[in-house]
Amino acid sequence: MLTSEAISPDKVVEKKGTYGAHSLGAATGMSRHEGGMTVTAEHGCLAVRVVRHGLIRVKLFVGAGAEAPGLDMGTTVAVVESAEEETAFKLRESKEAYFLETEAVSAIVDKSDCSIRFVDRSGRVVAHQRGMLWNEKNAVTGLFAASSQVRYYGLGEKTGSLDKKGERYEMWNSDVYAPHVPEIEALYQSIPLLIAHEPAAAYGVFLDNPGRTFFDMRSEEDGYLIQTETGSFDYYFIYGPQLKDVVGSYTSLTGRMELPPQWALGYHQSRYSYMSQEEVLELARTFREKQIPCDVIYLDIHYMEGYRVFTFDPERFPDPKAMIAELKEMGIRIVPIVDPGVKLDLNYEVFRDGAANGYFCRKQDGEPFVGPVWPGQSVFPDFTEDRVAEWWGDLHKFYTEMGIEGAWNDMNEPAVFNDSKTMDTDTVHGNNGNPVTHGEVHNLYGLLMSKATFEGIGRHIGGNRPFVLTRAGYAGIQRYAAVWTGDNRSFWEHMAMAMPMVLNLGLSGVSFAGPDIGGFAHHCSGELLARWTQMGALFPYCRNHSELRSIRQEPWSFGPDIEAICREYIGLRYRLMPLIYSVFRESAETGLPVIRPLVLEYPDDPNVSNLCDQFLLGSQLLAAPIYRAGTDHRSVYLPAGVWHDYWTGERLEGGRHVLAYAPLERMPLYVKEGAIIPHAEVAQSTAELGGADAASDVLAFDLYASGSSASAFEYYEDDGLTVGYREGAYNLHRLGLEVEQGSIALHVETAHAGFDGARGSWRLTFKQLPFAPSAVEGLPSGEDAWRFNAEANELTVTTRRPVEELRLVIHS
Ligand code: GLC
Repeated sequence: MLTSEAISPDKVVEKKGTYGAHSLGAATGMSRHEGGMTVTAEHGCLAVRVVRHGLIRVKLFVGAGAEAPGLDMGTTVAVVESAEEETAFKLRESKEAYFLETEAVSAIVDKSDCSIRFVDRSGRVVAHQRGMLWNEKNAVTGLFAASSQVRYYGLGEKTGSLDKKGERYEMWNSDVYAPHVPEIEALYQSIPLLIAHEPAAAYGVFLDNPGRTFFDMRSEEDGYLIQTETGSFDYYFIYGPQLKDVVGSYTSLTGRMELPPQWALGYHQSRYSYMSQEEVLELARTFREKQIPCDVIYLDIHYMEGYRVFTFDPERFPDPKAMIAELKEMGIRIVPIVDPGVKLDLNYEVFRDGAANGYFCRKQDGEPFVGPVWPGQSVFPDFTEDRVAEWWGDLHKFYTEMGIEGAWNDMNEPAVFNDSKTMDTDTVHGNNGNPVTHGEVHNLYGLLMSKATFEGIGRHIGGNRPFVLTRAGYAGIQRYAAVWTGDNRSFWEHMAMAMPMVLNLGLSGVSFAGPDIGGFAHHCSGELLARWTQMGALFPYCRNHSELRSIRQEPWSFGPDIEAICREYIGLRYRLMPLIYSVFRESAETGLPVIRPLVLEYPDDPNVSNLCDQFLLGSQLLAAPIYRAGTDHRSVYLPAGVWHDYWTGERLEGGRHVLAYAPLERMPLYVKEGAIIPHAEVAQSTAELGGADAASDVLAFDLYASGSSASAFEYYEDDGLTVGYREGAYNLHRLGLEVEQGSIALHVETAHAGFDGARGSWRLTFKQLPFAPSAVEGLPSGEDAWRFNAEANELTVTTRRPVEELRLVIHS
C-alpha cells in the first residue's frame, strides 16, 4: 500500500520535452514499388503500401542506409489480409509532396518533413500523422493530429470509460491480479488498434508491433502519440468513414471469429476450483434439479496432478472419462484449464518430451528459461515455432479422447511469479529460423498458444468446432479464442467497468468476450450476483467464476430469491439463443461486435459518444443494467425512433432519456420498433435447442410491427456443433418487415437452405399492432390459421418453415 509519501515534492519527475531527437528529415526521392511507393529521406525511408482502397500501410525504416529494394515488409501473425495486387492506385508528385491515390483515400507525404496526410475523395484531411521521432535506442514516437471534438475507441481490453480521450495505455500483456482501476495502463490483452471518431470521418490506426508500445491520448493537446519501444513502427491507416466501416475493415485485415459451437454460447459455471469428480457431478445435478440452464463446467488447476498440464489427479478425479460421459448425458461439457508453464520435472512425460526436442524457450546461453508458476519451477513452450505449436496442439488428444472439445488458456501473458512478472525480455524465440527476443514479441505469446490449442483440438474432434478461452492475446486473437477479462473483483465498479471494457474489445475485433460474472476475487453478495447475472446473460461470453478464498457464488448461493432471478435471466439467454446465434453469425461474417456501444449504431447522436452503461445486443435489443447497490431506478437513453419495453410492451418515443423502474428482479430491456426477434423455449442446455433434439418443433419470432417502419433481420441456423456449415449445411432466411398505413408485410426470402435439422414450423407473433387486423394474405395453401389476441394486441400466425419464399400481408 502506498502512503502520501508517494507524492512528496522530491518525487516529482519533470516531463521531458522531446520524444526523440531523430526524424526522417526532408524527402530525397520516391520510387514505385509493388503495392505502393517508398519515400527515401535524409535519415531513413518510408514504405507506403496499399492493402485495399481504404487501407494503407506505412512502415518506417530508420537510418540513412535504409534502402528501398531490400525492405522487410513481413507482418506479424495478426495480419491475414495481404495486399490485393489488383488494387489500382496512382502515384503523383508535386513540388511539395508525393501522392499515393486510391479510390477511397490518398496518402500524401510532405517532402519537407515526411509527415503524412490521409485525405478522402472530397479532399478532406481525415488523419494527419505529423511526424515520427526516434531516440538513440530506436524507440519511435508517432505524432498524430486530432480535432478537439475527437473521440477515441478500441484499444482492446482497457479499464476506464468507452471514450479514451485523456487516457494513456501501455500494450504489454500483464497478469494483473489487482488492481483493475482506471490508472492501470496494461492488462492481459494488447490490441494496438486506436479508432478515432472525428467529425469528418472515423478511422483507425493499427500498429502492428507485438513488443511494448504506448497509446497516449493525454500528453498532447491537439492530437495523440503512438510509441514503440522495440521493433518496427509499422501501422495501417484504416479509413471509415463510419465506425462500422473501420471495424469491418480492421477485422478483414486481422481476421474474424469463426462461428463458435453453440454450447460455448450457453451459460458456463466455474470456480477456482471444483475439487473433485464428485463435486463436479453434484454441481451438475444441482443445476438440473434446480432447472437452471448450464452448458459448461470448468476445471481449474486442482484437477491436475501437481498442476502438471495434461494430467488428472488420480485421487480427486479417478475416472474423468466416466465423469465427462455422465455430464454429457446431462447436456453439460467440461472445459479444463491449460496453462503454458510445464513443470520442470524429469519424471513428467510432457517435460521430458519437450526438453528432448528443444521445444521450450531458451535464454541466450541456450539453457531453457525457467520460472515459477503454479507447479513450481516451470519451462515454457516456444509457440513461435510451428513444430512446437503442433506438438502442443496434439497434446490435447489427452483431453479430446475423453470427450473434451474446449480448453481454457490462462497465465499465457506468460505470467511468471518473478520481479518482471513475465519471461525475461532477452529470452530467445526460435520463430521458425528467424530468432527474435521475447521483448520484441511478448504480446504474441498468448495468441500463439491459443492458436496452437484451437488448431490442435480442431484436429482431434472429428469435424466439430473447438472452443478456446484465453486471458492473453494480441490483435487477431478473435480468430482462435474467446476472451474473458481476467481477475476482476466482486465490486459494483467492476460490474460497471465490464461494459466499456467488453464494448471496446468488440470494437477491436474481439466479439466473443465477457467478465467473470459475480466477480472473481473478493466476496460477492446476492444483490450483486443478481444484477451481474442479468447483465451477463446478454454478454457474448457468459461465465460465473470466483476464486478459492471467496464465498460461493453459484446461482443458488444466496437463497431462493436470488436463485430465481438468476434462473430467469440465464433462462432468458437460452430463450434468446436463436437471436444470439444469428448475431454471432453476423459477427463472424462482418466483424461487427455481438454487443455494441450505442455509438456504433447511432454515430451522429452526441448523447451516445461516451455512453457505456447500456448496450445493444446486435442492433435490436437495448439493455440498461442496474450496476449500483440499493438502486431500483435508473436513467436510460433511448436513441431516436420508437422503442418498446421488453417486459411490458410499453411504447416509448426515443431521442430522450427515460426513467426506468427496475426492482431487483428486473433489468431494463428495450426492443426497437421493427425488431424481429427469433426465440425458443427455455432449455437446460443448448443441446436441447437444436434440430431433432429440440423440445418443440416450433421456432418463434416476435415482430414489433407497431409503426410505420421498415426493418430487416437475417435468421441463421445450423447444427451448432460441426464445421458442416462451411460446406453449406446451414439455413439463412432474410426477413423484411414493412409497416404501412393499414397493412403489415412480412417478406421471408430463403437465401440458403442446406441444413435439414431445422424446426418444422414458425410461429410469428406480430406485436403492438397499429390496427385491428381483418385478414392475413399469403399463407401457404392449407394454412389459414391466424389468431388475434385483442387484449395483448398480438396477431399470431403459425406456418411451415418457409422453404423458398413467404410473403404475408396483414390487412386492417
Ligand atoms: C488466474 C486466473 C483465474 C484462475 C486462477 C487459477 O488467476 O485468472 O481465472 O482461476 O488463475 O487458475
